[in-house]
Amino acid sequence: MTVCARKRIVRDYEQVSVQAETLSVPLDLAALFGRVAPVHVEIGSGKGTFLLDQAQAHPECDFLGVEWANRYYRYAVDRMGRWGLTNVRLIRTDATAFVRQSLGDETVEAFHVYFPDPWPKKRHHKRRFFQDQNVEQLWRALRPGGVVQFVTDHEPYYQSAREVIARQADRWQEVPFERPAGAAEGEIVGTNYERKYRVESRAIYALAVGKRPAMQ
Ligand SMILES: C[S@@+](CC[C@H](N)C(=O)[O-])C[C@H]1O[C@@H](n2cnc3c(N)ncnc32)[C@H](O)[C@@H]1O
Repeated sequence: MTVCARKRIVRDYEQVSVQAETLSVPLDLAALFGRVAPVHVEIGSGKGTFLLDQAQAHPECDFLGVEWANRYYRYAVDRMGRWGLTNVRLIRTDATAFVRQSLGDETVEAFHVYFPDPWPKKRHHKRRFFQDQNVEQLWRALRPGGVVQFVTDHEPYYQSAREVIARQADRWQEVPFERPAGAAEGEIVGTNYERKYRVESRAIYALAVGKRPAMQ
């Protein structure tokens, strides 16, 4: 039997793909999207399933995906472009540097961090996205009352995320996790990785926290 695997042809859509080097600092989100609207940022957006479903369900909001891997980035750009979505932008860059250097204070409505790489070896924990300094930066960039949603299949990473929040308890309060539009019955977020891990019957852990105002 001959197996013929057809390679998906991916196109660039200039209205979706953002060139990191062309961005203003701090990033002018209204200019980027061509309007003033609540902005959601997904860290490590992968193939873009969350962005696609949520942007269709919430045309009143804008969505920015940050993805490092070129292959996934290009796949997601092609997907958003094919669907003709006007409220999604994708940027190929390192999320840690992007949040720290490019996002202005109190400009983001919500951050979505779904199945970030867990870096299970202890000597690699410093590479995890959800760590003290980055979470401080998320707090800075969030509007008052804004939220961070975090989902992982990696129980130790989930526990360490809870510890990060506990260390910054004056800045965060736990809030109910809001399941995105694309989550099917029995799913928490419905991303590619959640679907892949559910097939393997892995446990999935979710955390949502809201920004408290700074203590005076
Ligand atoms: C396990 S995948 C999860 C993808 C998607 N969120 C999902 O749930 O299906 C993690 C993604 O984060 C991306 N990523 C890892 N480190 C990153 C970084 N520092 N900046 C931007 N993206 C990153 C990876 O390339 C990968 O696409």
